[in-house]
Formats: sequence, structure tokens, C-alpha cells
Amino acid sequence: MRRRYLVTGGAGYVGSHVVAALADRGDEIVVIDNLRQGHRRAVLDGARLIEADLSDSARLDAVLAEGRWDGVLHFASLSLVGESMRQPFRYLMENAMAGIGLIDACVRHGIARFVLSSTANLFGSASGGPIAEDVAIDPGSPYGESKWMIERALLWADRLHGLRSARLRYFNAAGADPAGRLGEDHRPETHLIPLVIDAALGRRPPLEVFGDDYPTPDGTCIRDYVHVTDLAEAHLLALDQLDARSVTYNLGNGLGHSVLQVIEAVERVGGRRVPYTVAARRPGDPAVLVAASDLIRRETGWTPKHADLDHIVRTAWAWREKHPDGYGN
Ligand SMILES: NC(=O)c1ccc[n+]([C@@H]2O[C@H](COP(=O)([O-])OP(=O)(O)OC[C@H]3O[C@@H](n4cnc5c(N)ncnc54)[C@H](O)[C@@H]3O)[C@@H](O)[C@H]2O)c1
Repeated sequence: MRRRYLVTGGAGYVGSHVVAALADRGDEIVVIDNLRQGHRRAVLDGARLIEADLSDSARLDAVLAEGRWDGVLHFASLSLVGESMRQPFRYLMENAMAGIGLIDACVRHGIARFVLSSTANLFGSASGGPIAEDVAIDPGSPYGESKWMIERALLWADRLHGLRSARLRYFNAAGADPAGRLGEDHRPETHLIPLVIDAALGRRPPLEVFGDDYPTPDGTCIRDYVHVTDLAEAHLLALDQLDARSVTYNLGNGLGHSVLQVIEAVERVGGRRVPYTVAARRPGDPAVLVAASDLIRRETGWTPKHADLDHIVRTAWAWREKHPDGYGN
């Protein structure tokens, strides 16, 4: 039977790729997005876009009252770690209120499945080896804290109301739809790969590398870049798990790449030099953040198909080169 999902933030980067994956398999999708960060053109034909803010609870109730829903996927969020360090209470209030309000609405409307975009920022103080789900939570920022608050609310929604949820902690989402339909267009852009590509294409000043004195082989920070299409596949598999129980998964490739390795990959793929300067470390940036994703692999059979860094960069480069203004205005 054709399934029907409500997707908050589905006009954004990760959400739009998940909407495409759900629509590709024939599901019916309704997106709620205020378009503050998202883009109308990122919602592919076939999905319906409702331009609304999640704080508009009357609108949300009206949408949820429109018939049967097989689940809600919640991507909408303020997501800038640095901004959250400067505006902690805005992040704690807006993100937590939007998330908990949505959970409350789901319970009231009898929704059975909920998927949350959570984050590796829950493991702000972790260091060293790959991070599994049982590593102690210690959010690295008010942004991460707000995600933890929503994760906790989901735990209670399950215990008290039987709302099953998948809490998916993404490491660094990267790349673009290999079919070229969608890409990454954050404003401001803070993610490394599009920044490096734009520096290579001369569309922005030389890249700033924040710190080259970390305890890593080349001194720059190491992160786990996971292709956004692999992330989308993980959502589909996680949704299936919710027929039986709630789940929490850390989502990454388990491969760490340093900032300098990303720069080298962009130079290989694009055939251009990446101009960069070394700046001071940013407060709160851990040296290494790499996921141990054995649990989702074991329980769902998830296998990232786009894990190779050059391939990730190639898909991002192709979209960026073809869409110099991103999705436009
Ligand atoms: N991109 C990553 O690497 C990454 C890593 C970890 C976690 N996450 C989480 O994944 C989710 C998606 O990330 P993204 O990079 O696609 O972000 P994004 O900013 O591209 O997408 C978020 C979307 O939500 C919408 N939105 C925000 N607040 C809203 C509100 N109150 N009402 C309605 N719409 C609202 C925005 O307009 C945007 O389209 C976020 O929750 C983010 O915290 C992302």
C-alpha cells in the first residue's frame, strides 16, 4: 500500500534528499517548511509543499487532521553550532519547542512513527575512536542540547503513548543526489565540502582551516562524511524498524577524513588548487568525530554505497558547478 508521510524541513538539504527517496519508492509526501533555510525548488514534483512555521500549531493540527499518516519525519531545525553558542536560549527554546510541540501533536493525532534528525554534536566531549550509541551524551553546544531534549521527549512519548521513534544521529552529511536533481545550498554555508569547492572555483575567499595543531596525523580535525543519499536510505530502513520498536542509531561511514584530506580530494576531483589559510582553532571543535554505525548495519542491513570520499566530493562538485547560485533566490 502507498504510504503517506509528513516531512518537516523537507525543503532543506537532508530533508529534500529523503523526500526524493520516499517519493522514488512511491510514497506520498507532504512537506512543511517555512523556507527560511529551505528552497521551494528542492521539493521535487510529486511532493506537496506547505509553507508554514512549526510554531503555527493551528496549521500543524489542520495538516495532521488531513487523513491517515504513516509517520512524521522531523528535519526542521536551527542547525548552526556556532550560532547556538552565541544565542543559546533561542536554540534551546525554538528547537525544543518545535520538536516537543510536534511530538505532542503526533500523539494527539494518533501518529505511530516518528523519525528525528539528531546529531553527532550529542557527543561533544568524546575523543578518539569511533563513537557508538552507548558513548556518554554530553552535548557540545546548545544546538546539540536541544536535540537531546527532543530525543528525551521521544523516549517519554514511546513509554507513555506508544509513539515509536527513530533517533538518527548524523555525523557530517555531505555530497549531492547522484542523479543531479538536488544538492546542498545552506545560507550561510558552514559545511566543509561546499566551502572547499567554492574556494576552488574562486567563488569565495581562500578557505580558513581552523587549527592545524590538533593531535591528528596532519594536525587538522577529522570528521566522518556520510553521503546524503546513504543517509536517506538509512531513514527508509529505520522506518521499517518502527513496526516493532523504537531505535537510536549513529550514522556515519566509520571513516575519518581530515580537513587537509578533504582539500586534497577536491583538488583531485576538480583539477584545481584550493587556496587556504590556517586560522585559530574554533572553541568546542573536537579533534576527531567518527561514527561507529555497526548497530544500524547489523539491525537493518544498511550499507553505505557512496562512502568513498572522492565520490562524495564528485557528486557535490557536479551539483555546485551546474548550479552556481544553488537553488537561486
Ligand atoms: N547537515 C548535516 O550535516 C547535519 C548533521 C547532523 C544533524 N543534522 C540535522 O539534520 C536536519 C537537516 O539538516 P540540513 O542540513 O538539511 O538543514 P537545512 O537547514 O538545510 O534544513 C532544515 C529545514 O528546516 C526548515 N525549518 C527550520 N525551522 C523551521 C520551522 N520552525 N518551521 C518550519 N520549517 C523550518 C528550513 O527552512 C530548512 O528547509 C537538521 O535537523 C539538522 O540539525 C544535519
